[in-house]
Amino acid sequence: VPVDPFDLVVFGATGDLARRKLIPALYHRMHDGQAPEGARIVGAARADLDADGYRRMADAALTEFVAPADLDAASREIFLKAIDYVPVDIGGDDGWTALGEALPEHGSSRPRAFYLSLAPRFFGPAAARVKSEGLAGAEGRIVVEKPFGHDLGSARALNAALAGAFDEHHVYRIDHYLGKETVQNLMALRFANALFEPLWNNHHIDHVQITVAESVGVEGRGPYYDGVGAMRDMVQNHLLQLLCLIAMEPPAHFEPDAVRDEKVKVLRALAPLSSAENVVRGQYAGAGASASYAEDAQSPDSRTESYIALKAEVANWRWSGVPFYLRTGKRLRGRMSEIAVAFKPAPHSIFPGGGKVGQNVLAIRLQPDEGITLGMTIKDPGPGGLRLAPAVLDMTFAEAMRGAPSLRMPDAYERLVMDVIRGDQTLFMRGDECEAAWSWVDPIIAAWEERGDRPAAYDPGSSGPDDALMLLHRDGRRWREIA
Ligand code: BG6
Repeated sequence: VPVDPFDLVVFGATGDLARRKLIPALYHRMHDGQAPEGARIVGAARADLDADGYRRMADAALTEFVAPADLDAASREIFLKAIDYVPVDIGGDDGWTALGEALPEHGSSRPRAFYLSLAPRFFGPAAARVKSEGLAGAEGRIVVEKPFGHDLGSARALNAALAGAFDEHHVYRIDHYLGKETVQNLMALRFANALFEPLWNNHHIDHVQITVAESVGVEGRGPYYDGVGAMRDMVQNHLLQLLCLIAMEPPAHFEPDAVRDEKVKVLRALAPLSSAENVVRGQYAGAGASASYAEDAQSPDSRTESYIALKAEVANWRWSGVPFYLRTGKRLRGRMSEIAVAFKPAPHSIFPGGGKVGQNVLAIRLQPDEGITLGMTIKDPGPGGLRLAPAVLDMTFAEAMRGAPSLRMPDAYERLVMDVIRGDQTLFMRGDECEAAWSWVDPIIAAWEERGDRPAAYDPGSSGPDDALMLLHRDGRRWREIA
């Protein structure tokens, strides 16, 4: 569905996120006919470029980050024509008047958004300045990226700073996991199919596993990452968001506050977790040519975790007693993000010879090979008697989209940026949600800091530290393979 012509100002327009994600996302939306030709994208950053200089940078980003098959000269030209650039000193006075002049007069109904692709310390000052310069009008939106704070106190301070300039319903906090196609599909799966809801509780679900495994290390982000770690980088946001979507009650409507109210309730129901027993931290070692975390982070004595596994519990009527095992880490065996819902086994096997009745597992695969599978037990085909065998009901999206080869799996940012323009906050985190997540995370971090825990070393290319295996073994369960 096409959106109205809009004005999007991207602060930090020369940065990595803008080049890798925003420019390609906006190009795709224009190329696919969703963003109209009248849209304007105004880059703003400190670099002393003119519009042509920035267009060249954007053009290079398209070459680097858009698949050649999706790049055509006509779309490219239309896209680049929509781009303008104004040098602005976010923390100072330079450039703000020029930025105002580069934007069309208010009074039109064009949606206007300001994307702060900036370090969080600039969120408050930039939002205040956008407001005081009169750039936002009554309906202007502000978009911020993670990290949204370092702990509860700093998240509250950021919320307060944003609230000083913008109403909550004009603030869009991005968690790019919510824009992933399969994550949205999770809501369709749960709430558009009557099949699962009667089973979606502690009577029928044995446990849930949420895995976000990466094969890359901390790459060039070492020094930044070393002050953060996997808990703050991934669990506080992406993994807890996934947990919320699995555990939340059905909202009455698919509307921003209805959905977010339910997610906040889940976060508030998380049982406090401070015992060392249920939290495993790891740090990748080096091997051969593969650098260790400490080398990547340039921090020889670092205690920061590049891996974390934990056992959480949503302490409410629906979920009491169902463990939610979460794990995420870098430099693991493969890149795999998946949510697996394991159902309780059949209570009794009627089959001769102790035929083992397997556990049904609903696996929602976020990446790669997006899709949904349901592990079943069937009769082993053939005349050899009734032997049981595992089988998988497989809805791989690439298969489902066969016959429509022009359909490409859109990147999360394509969806999220268009939602900002449409004014739909459903897939964005509300301020109280961020704070509730930090409220649960902070004491866990405080407890390991107080104990002076060191993360356990794990081999690069492995599935994490042995203690993480024990976390499930202890409960008579196993992690799913990272593959
Ligand atoms: C980011 C984290 O939010 O998510 C990175 O800061 C991580 O450390 C990335 O690599 C993973 O995102 P994706 O979309 O590649 O799974």
